[in-house]
Amino acid sequence: MNAADSTALLPAVPAPTPGEVRLAEIEARDITAWFGTHKVLDRVSLTMDAGAITALIGPSGCGKSTFLRILNRMHELVPSAQLAGEVLLDGEDIYDPSKRLIDARRAIGMVFQKPNPFPAMSIRENVLAGLKLTGTKASRSDKEQLVESCLTKGGLWNEVKDRLDAPGGSLSGGQQQRLCIARSLAIKPRVLLMDEPCSALDPTSTRVIEETMLELAHEVTIVIVTHNMQQAARVSSKCAFFLASQGTPGVIVEHGDTPTMFQNPRDQRTSDYVNGRFG
Ligand SMILES: Nc1ncnc2c1ncn2[C@@H]1O[C@H](COP(=O)(O)OP(=O)(O)O)[C@@H](O)[C@H]1O
Ligand SMILES: [Mg+2]
Repeated sequence: MNAADSTALLPAVPAPTPGEVRLAEIEARDITAWFGTHKVLDRVSLTMDAGAITALIGPSGCGKSTFLRILNRMHELVPSAQLAGEVLLDGEDIYDPSKRLIDARRAIGMVFQKPNPFPAMSIRENVLAGLKLTGTKASRSDKEQLVESCLTKGGLWNEVKDRLDAPGGSLSGGQQQRLCIARSLAIKPRVLLMDEPCSALDPTSTRVIEETMLELAHEVTIVIVTHNMQQAARVSSKCAFFLASQGTPGVIVEHGDTPTMFQNPRDQRTSDYVNGRFG
């Protein structure tokens, strides 16, 4: 029996029922990026698996944040920024001229290094802020449910359920970052990008966010930039090592399963980096 015959025997994949989680793969193909004439990424390709946590590691300035911003069309906000290549979300190029910017931003959320809740807005309103921005309508009771479920997924509900009207700015740094995660989740993204989300946090808050990420990976594909090798080892199942040597644009030197990248990398530069010999 040939391969085509054998697949004919497999049951058809059922269509997802409403509310069911459909995990998305995101694939970057031949991404080259410039700021003005400065080329900062050169033909970078990477598939980030559905429902996995992929860690992007590498020294400062090698283009990790630029790569992440390209994955949800934030790179184009910089006037001098240019781009070549494709970003496929479940096989469809988010840069295709027929695709809307708002759809890419809705499907692919971002959490930044510095927690950035709206400080004067209440905790509840912070969670719901994305609905307004993306023009998503919801009833009052749907909103209350959404606030609870997103804060629960963000690992913050028990700490704030009695003060949802308190300002976002009244929370600690770690709580603010979890509020930002909850806010991103409210618009039900299929991919969550996190750019060094714990680098401004203490170890306890960091641990809580890592636990939150591991829970979230069941329903959203996660890509995280981190300088913390222990963190990459703890949370990610896949890892990509970026490097820009001596003024050349950033490239991926090596990518693969996280345990292999840490214990048995192919490239000496990966070994040197993950063992703290540079960067
Ligand atoms: N807004 C910008 N304008 C011009 N150059 C930028 C801008 N943002 C980043 N760069 C440059 O792009 C390169 C990659 O930066 P970045 O993506 O921030 O790296 P990383 O996140 O790995 O530290 C660096 O040389 C940096 O100076
Ligand atoms: Mg960065």
